[in-house]
Amino acid sequence: MKVGILTGGGDCPGLNPAIRGVVYRGIDLGFEFVGIQEGWRGLVKANYEPLGLTDVEEIIYQGGTMLGSSRTNPFKNPDDLNAVLENIKSAKFDAIVACGGEDTLGVAAKLYSQHGVPTVGVPKTMDNDLSCTDFTFGFDTAAGVGLDAIDRLRDTARSHRRVIVLEVMGRHAGWVAWYVGMAGGADWVTLPEEPLDVDAMCAHLNSVRARGKKYALIVASEGTNIPTDDTEAVVDSFGHVNLSNRNVGEYLASEIEKRTGWESRHAVVGHVHRGGAPTLFDRVLGMRVGMKAADLVNNREFGKMAALVGTNVVGVDIVQATSVLKTVPADLLELIKSTRK
Ligand code: F6P
Repeated sequence: MKVGILTGGGDCPGLNPAIRGVVYRGIDLGFEFVGIQEGWRGLVKANYEPLGLTDVEEIIYQGGTMLGSSRTNPFKNPDDLNAVLENIKSAKFDAIVACGGEDTLGVAAKLYSQHGVPTVGVPKTMDNDLSCTDFTFGFDTAAGVGLDAIDRLRDTARSHRRVIVLEVMGRHAGWVAWYVGMAGGADWVTLPEEPLDVDAMCAHLNSVRARGKKYALIVASEGTNIPTDDTEAVVDSFGHVNLSNRNVGEYLASEIEKRTGWESRHAVVGHVHRGGAPTLFDRVLGMRVGMKAADLVNNREFGKMAALVGTNVVGVDIVQATSVLKTVPADLLELIKSTRK
């Protein structure tokens, strides 16, 4: 079979191990591979290169994606969609393996369900917000970067007797904020799943200070519900607002200082989350879902996504996986309350 592989959406560590996993397994199955460049844009523009063992052999420890990425949505423009369908036909692809989050895999789901394109999905996102899979690769590395940041901020916050707010990515799901906040021992965590209560946060900071603690740390998800006007915001081709422009960390630090009189600073992890070598967990998960994707192609189980369920990697329905965002559930939100002492 001739199989095209692409990576779309925000890159994250684990994509290269996943590409390698697809190719390594596919070699055993007799597949020929083509690397589609820069996500769905590569199929709009017919931009691909052959992909073989020596191309992927060395990439297991590398962040980013050797295939490049973009946030191209071919369903935005009928000419782009026609080009994708034509190019798949003329390149004689028997299957497309798409590595991506809800947007990239949403395109794979629609191409399969509406146009019969044989697609298989590999779930990736540092946001960990894809349904039907317990974890996505990229999350462990990205949250680890956030954890390193809060550990460093603790030193300087303590020295200067300050409050420091760390803004982390994660879009409309608070997974990164929850993990970094819990593992980093934050005094307060704000995330998109909960209404923002600045009064309660400041009252807590006052009580923390009153009991003698000399510094405090807040972890704030970029998707925190701060009062903001998004009506003029620029959106990407999938309709997403760029949340980093809302300056959640800066807003919270200034409110805290105003309301409590406690000197406050903020720091933003931003795209630093997405770089660097994938962790052990992300390398192994990337490899396993990549290998499973090759198996799904071999079994002609199209319209499926390779997913981690418990400790097993299984095929799940790609439409289902991309139709609802997986956010932090109530029981985990409840645990945050017990850490506010
Ligand atoms: O979806 C991954 C992510 O890093 C989000 O956490 C963040 O909101 C977004 O991508 C940033 O996108 P871009 O790289 O286009 O600025």
